[in-house]
Amino acid sequence: MSTIQLHGKSFEIFLPEALLQEKISELAAQINTDYAGKKPLFIAVLNGSFMFASDLFKSITIEAEICFIKLASYKGTTSTGQVITAIGLDVDLTNRHVIVLEDIIDTGKTLHTFLPQLYNQQPESLKICVLLHKPDATLFEVPIDYCCFSIPNKFVLGYGLDYDGYGRNSKDIYKLAE
Ligand code: XMP
Ligand code: MG
Repeated sequence: MSTIQLHGKSFEIFLPEALLQEKISELAAQINTDYAGKKPLFIAVLNGSFMFASDLFKSITIEAEICFIKLASYKGTTSTGQVITAIGLDVDLTNRHVIVLEDIIDTGKTLHTFLPQLYNQQPESLKICVLLHKPDATLFEVPIDYCCFSIPNKFVLGYGLDYDGYGRNSKDIYKLAE
């Protein structure tokens, strides 16, 4: 399907499944090289990153762990500006090589607010790995170490990303039509 309708809005195909999978495999290969022997701990940020985290982690061939936290700052198609921690972290990060997995960095507020909590636990290293980044939407600087796609400042959905709860189950990513 090249367009879908959701909550009265029209979305057009943007990043098809094959392209997503290709980039994610490349990224996993890079991480396998960079973290060989380091037993990294991936922290995936729910809900939006669950498909990205799953596909990336399946291509990680070195010894690695994964855990999940839940943060939220979005309502509808614009950020509420408030970051809520709905499920906290239950793993000790001391001396660990940590890689945070996020679906998308938009204004940067979510990670900018949350990262100090991770640094406080004194991990050996901490890197940020994102599927999508909207550079033109930046309000809070976040250091991004691995990124699959830099995209324009348009609302997107699919592949784990939602519009008020719906649309996550698409294998492709769509963007809000003009
Ligand atoms: P911030 O502004 O804090 O936003 O960097 C990060 C979180 O907001 C969600 N987000 C989106 N969700 N389509 C979505 O479905 C979008 O275009 C979008 N932009 C931001 C997302 O959950 C992300 O973790
Ligand atoms: Mg998210």
